[in-house]
Amino acid sequence: MAAQPSKLKLWGGRFTGKTDPLMQMYNESLSYDKRMFAQDILGSQAYAKATCKAGILTTEERDTIISGLERVRQEWASGTFVIHPEIDEDIHTANERRLGEIIGTHIAGKLHTGRSRNDQVATDMRLWLRDELNEIEGYLIEFLRATVERAEEQIDALLPGYTHVQRAQPIRWSHWLMSHAFMFLSDLERLRELKKRVNKSPLGCGALAGNPFNLDREFLAKELGFDGCIQNSLIGVADRDFVVETLQWATLMMNHVSRWSEDLIIYSTAEFGFVTLADAYSTGSSLMPQKKNSDSLELLRGKSGRVFGQMAGFLYTVKGLPSSYNKDLQEDKEPLFDCVTTVQNSLQIATGVVATLTIYPEKMKAALTMDMLATDLADYLVRKGVPFRETHHISGACVREAEKRKLSGIDQLGLDVLQSIDERFGEDVLEVFDFERSVELRSSTGGTCKASVIKQIEELTKVLQRAPNGVVEN
Ligand code: ARG
Repeated sequence: MAAQPSKLKLWGGRFTGKTDPLMQMYNESLSYDKRMFAQDILGSQAYAKATCKAGILTTEERDTIISGLERVRQEWASGTFVIHPEIDEDIHTANERRLGEIIGTHIAGKLHTGRSRNDQVATDMRLWLRDELNEIEGYLIEFLRATVERAEEQIDALLPGYTHVQRAQPIRWSHWLMSHAFMFLSDLERLRELKKRVNKSPLGCGALAGNPFNLDREFLAKELGFDGCIQNSLIGVADRDFVVETLQWATLMMNHVSRWSEDLIIYSTAEFGFVTLADAYSTGSSLMPQKKNSDSLELLRGKSGRVFGQMAGFLYTVKGLPSSYNKDLQEDKEPLFDCVTTVQNSLQIATGVVATLTIYPEKMKAALTMDMLATDLADYLVRKGVPFRETHHISGACVREAEKRKLSGIDQLGLDVLQSIDERFGEDVLEVFDFERSVELRSSTGGTCKASVIKQIEELTKVLQRAPNGVVEN
């Protein structure tokens, strides 16, 4: 007796031999692509409408399919969907098999007319990613809001700014916070660009050559909320640039997360003592009772490597693929899914860290040393008309003299000694030895003076106000 159609593999018609059990396992993607069950159902429901419009399904059949699919969706959502591992190869085959059981294979068997899993999977991926990117956008905005809030309330704290991790010049703590915020703002802008390219419809491209049933692809695209159709069926099924681009976007964003974390890890050491992490984002040592480790930051730094790897790995997968669909493309899901989860979690953790971080302005201040004002001393003479190259040497001589005399800083030299080094030093030179003054002099756009940092905060707040709920308003 012939096997029941619903018990056959969807592509089983021309095959007689059994699949090697390891091949079965090697080939299946349901264990992970079930994550897109809702998008697969949504795509099929829209497809039923379009095929009805094209005269393939009656309106009755269409409605039966749509409500049958709704039942399949509910089974997934409630955890009652029963997987048949020997025939459910992926989410597409599993859903269709189950639909056949619910509404009968005679009607269910019409759904896939003109469609291929090639255009179906590309559609599911884009629909899924669109939702996830919206969520990521929301998390990124929350992180930026939390950062801006801290920058506003902590604007008076000064600390050493570093180059080469050597004390360089005093800056505002908020200036440091905002420096990272602007990196993340570019990530937000790039994300919004990326979303436009993700949100294009490949549905109706068929296996590779297009749809022969006069399917209204524009109608389908609209039904699914896509901004138009992919204009070439070969590329519709082959294109995974939206996956590569997402991984690349995440790589750069996680690189920013990593660099931000690294600064905070350094600042949270006892040697610096500028910040401590809330208990919620730290862990202890199983051996050393006194330890409080910044594990959240180390994980953020560490997980960035994982995302870089997925990006590089998937690029190798797509490099040199022949035209249209090849099964290699099934390898797009695991890196993408993992990357999306990592990014979503990382942004939420980073938000928690910054929102609960304790800062120690006194310790920051104590780390400021007078040598950090050597440039300001040189600039003092510049304001009196001396060329900077000359003032640089004079200021250097002052630093050397203070070291020679074993003084705590250049401010201890006193006016006489300063004037013996260069007679153009006037009494007002003593005003130079003031960290607040140094910071406030950096008043050009982008500088660390209070007004400039406030301007930075305002600029960023303006952008954030444009997207109150993480949804792009184009
Ligand atoms: N599970 C497959 C994937 O993820 C679906 C497409 C299969 N297409 C095919 N022609 N075998 O790529």
